Amino acid sequence: MTDRYAVIGNPIAHSKSPLIHTRFARNTGQDLDYGLIEAPLDGFVGTVRAFRDSGGRGMNITTPFKLQALEMATEQGERARIAGAANAMKFEDGGRIVVDNFDGLGLANDIEVNLGVALRGRRVLMLGAGGAARGALVELLARGPAELLIANRTRATAQDLADQFASHGPLRACSYSELAHETGFDIVLNGTSASMTGALPALPASAFTATTLAYEMVYGRGLTPFLRLAQGGGVPRLADGVGMLVEQAAEAFFWWRGVRPDTRAVIDEITVPLV
Ligand code: ATR
Repeated sequence: MTDRYAVIGNPIAHSKSPLIHTRFARNTGQDLDYGLIEAPLDGFVGTVRAFRDSGGRGMNITTPFKLQALEMATEQGERARIAGAANAMKFEDGGRIVVDNFDGLGLANDIEVNLGVALRGRRVLMLGAGGAARGALVELLARGPAELLIANRTRATAQDLADQFASHGPLRACSYSELAHETGFDIVLNGTSASMTGALPALPASAFTATTLAYEMVYGRGLTPFLRLAQGGGVPRLADGVGMLVEQAAEAFFWWRGVRPDTRAVIDEITVPLV
């Protein structure tokens, strides 16, 4: 029988997850169907239960339900617990709902494997201290950077994150104005939601060097203001979150099916040029 999976969010119409998982299933010979579910903003739990009760095997969870997904779980994977959010769910016997979070793993794998930039010993700057940044921190620190600096508009939020995750590695917090004194990062990640509104975090161009990788954690928006700033600052390597998206999907697919899909062809298929 065909196993059913879906991504759930609101809004969800433009999600690439069905395409990605359908390709993975075809390429690995797995018999599964992967759909798209928009839950009402006040109806996440009921929508998940209805999907499970109709035979669903697992889900990906996206904005704004990642926290609720964590809360409704009967078992929380370590990464989801640390991130305070879940992006994948599987339904097991006895009503068990197991959740995990593969966003950080997807990001770190994309940087290191697909883009060929080792995190070990590097100076890394994360812009933003919301859910996207939080989900990535621990996995980034696990790869051994020389330091990870979180810059945020609201400095106190960045400081809270730095305090909370200090035991995982060399982590500091600052405001954008304090960034003026911090130069030359090897990797600069935009984990703010600024690009969704066409805004630019107040980042000084001195953050970049001639070898920096500038990484926009959202995907499919072309040259965002952040990437444009980096490009104007002479940054040679620009990336958006398409690889992160596909890599986290591959981790979820492996978690559900026990089979690791190849990601390269799917990344190439859905990449939108950075122009
Ligand atoms: P997400 O889950 O996408 O991370 P979030 O938790 O609402 O969303 O966090 C949004 C992040 O983007 C925050 O770090 C926010 O900064 P504040 O904590 O100061 O609000 C940041 N952000 C949003 N718009 C921004 C902008 N125009 N410039 C700089 N940072 C911005």
